[in-house]
Amino acid sequence: MNEETPGPSRSEIWKMFNLISPTYDRANRVMSFGFDQIWRRKVCAFLLPKKEMRILDCATGTGDQITALLEKRPDIAEVIGIDLAEEMVKIGKEKIAKKPYANKVAFEVASALAIPYPDHSFDCVTIAFGIRNVTDMMAAFQEFRRVLKPGGRVLILEGTVPRKKWLRGLHLFYLRYVLPAIGGLISKNLKAYRYLNQTIETFPQGEKFAGRMRAAGFVNVHANTLLGGITTVYQGDKDVPTCH
Ligand SMILES: C[S@@+](CC[C@H](N)C(=O)[O-])C[C@H]1O[C@@H](n2cnc3c(N)ncnc32)[C@H](O)[C@@H]1O
Repeated sequence: MNEETPGPSRSEIWKMFNLISPTYDRANRVMSFGFDQIWRRKVCAFLLPKKEMRILDCATGTGDQITALLEKRPDIAEVIGIDLAEEMVKIGKEKIAKKPYANKVAFEVASALAIPYPDHSFDCVTIAFGIRNVTDMMAAFQEFRRVLKPGGRVLILEGTVPRKKWLRGLHLFYLRYVLPAIGGLISKNLKAYRYLNQTIETFPQGEKFAGRMRAAGFVNVHANTLLGGITTVYQGDKDVPTCH
C-alpha cells in the first residue's frame, strides 16, 4: 500500500462524511476535548496581515474553519466554503445562517481538485483536516496555487503524530484505540473513525509534507506544530512574479 493511498475507498471518502454528518461536530468536540476549535482558531495566527481578504475554505465540511476565521478576523471580506459532501455543507449553511457575519459566507458543493473559480481569485486558501482526504494531494496543491492571487497564502491544518517519544506513544494509543471507540459510539460508524486514525498515521507530515508543498511551487513554507505536534498548521505562499 502506498503511503498516500491508505485505503481503497479513499476516492469516495466524502460519501462517508455524508453518513456521519449529523454527529460530526459533536464527535469532534468530544474526541479532541474541544481542542479542534482551538486549533482552527490558531490557523488565524498565520493569516496575512491584510484587510478585506477573500478566502476559500476547501473541504469545509460543516463550516467550523469559516466560523473560526470570521470570529478571529472580522476584517475578512468574504469566505467561500467548498466540499464534496452535500450533507456536511447543508449543516454548515444552517449553522452560519444564524451568525452575524452570514452575509460574508457562501457554500458550494465542489471538489478541491477542480475548484470552480478563476485563477488569482483568493488572498488565502485554507483547508482544515481535509488534505488527508483528497485523492491527489499534489493536484490539490496545484489548484490552491492556481486560485491564489500572487503573494497569497495557503494554510493547511492537519492531524500529525508528535515526535517526542512519550507523547508519540500516548497519542498513537489514543488514535488507535480510544478515538475510534468514541467516534464509533457517537456516530454509530466505527469504520469511519478507524479510517481517521489510519490516515493520520500514514500521511506524510512535518518536513516531508512541507517538501511536497515546495515541490508544488509554494515558497516560504513552514510547518508550525501545535500542542506538541498533535496537529500542524502548514503555511506556504504563492510567489509574486518579479519583473525584469
Ligand atoms: C475531516 S472533514 C473536515 C471538515 C472541516 N474542514 C473541519 O475542519 O471540520 C474532511 C472533509 O473533506 C471533504 N472532502 C474529501 N475530499 C474532498 C474533495 N476532493 N474536495 C472537497 N472536499 C473533500 C469531506 O467531504 C469532508 O467534509
